[in-house]
Amino acid sequence: MSEQQAEQHTDNGLSWNERVIKEFRANGGRVGGMFEGAPMVLLTTMGRRTGKPHTNPAIHLHDGDRYLVFASNAGRDTHPDWYHNLLDSPQVTLEIGTDEGAVKKLATRAQVLEGAERDRYWERQCSLDPAFRDYETKTARTIPVVALQPLDLAADSERSRMIGVQLVKHHEDLRAGLARVRAAIEEALGATDTAGPRPVGLTEQLRKQCLTYCYGLQMHHIREDGSFTAFEDRFPHLVPAITRLREEHKVVEAALAEFEAILDKGISGEPGDLERVRAELDRVVNGLQEHFTYEEETLLPALEG
Ligand SMILES: [Fe+2]
Ligand SMILES: [Fe+2]
Repeated sequence: MSEQQAEQHTDNGLSWNERVIKEFRANGGRVGGMFEGAPMVLLTTMGRRTGKPHTNPAIHLHDGDRYLVFASNAGRDTHPDWYHNLLDSPQVTLEIGTDEGAVKKLATRAQVLEGAERDRYWERQCSLDPAFRDYETKTARTIPVVALQPLDLAADSERSRMIGVQLVKHHEDLRAGLARVRAAIEEALGATDTAGPRPVGLTEQLRKQCLTYCYGLQMHHIREDGSFTAFEDRFPHLVPAITRLREEHKVVEAALAEFEAILDKGISGEPGDLERVRAELDRVVNGLQEHFTYEEETLLPALEG
């Protein structure tokens, strides 16, 4: 089965991508079948139109401290979505299997290789894995080679300080976003109390606003999980606090998945339905303010040096 056919194949309601991701995470970064023994990684990019996190499996080549990935799209004539996403936002979260059988997440910055450097690594990859030579013959496209450089805080103390500033800024944005979503729900509830007709499109607008907030929060936590690996290397005394923060991210992630499932079914606009959405949102964000505060209190003193 070619990679292209495999991607279209679905099993148990999961897409090909979803099955590979599940297997990768459950088996310390190893995947069987057609990818048995292949050096797989998972890339999470931010959807350039939706802001939604997108995770894709890819084969990588290790080069010093960088990880190289190839936007082959199995030889199709279009670049894969993840490539367009990283051009728009080069912060990529990489998941890779460790020697201990776990999966670690790394915060990386993507750089598209050009010219002779690109050609050199492309040739190396084709000689290691002939499937890539085959992809090249199927398309007139020059298949991009992307270097992912992991965040290293030991190299640059100014970088640590900037990450601290960004952390506070993101939390401010997320707190403000939350207030806006809550206000929109209250407004929708108010509109349904009046005798007149419901404003057209209000519930759809509300659903989109809730989803955008969810995606923003998911993206923030995924990127933080990657950065935490660099924080632990640089500031070992933070390991217990970071372990707690990672656990809290998992709790929020599970609640967000349930909230998204409710939003996917649509909001009817009836007061009972809107109240249910409000209650679910409260459940999702329960503890979130404390999470932000704890994160700032524990991480900022170290990041600010
Ligand atoms: Fe966090
Ligand atoms: Fe945070």
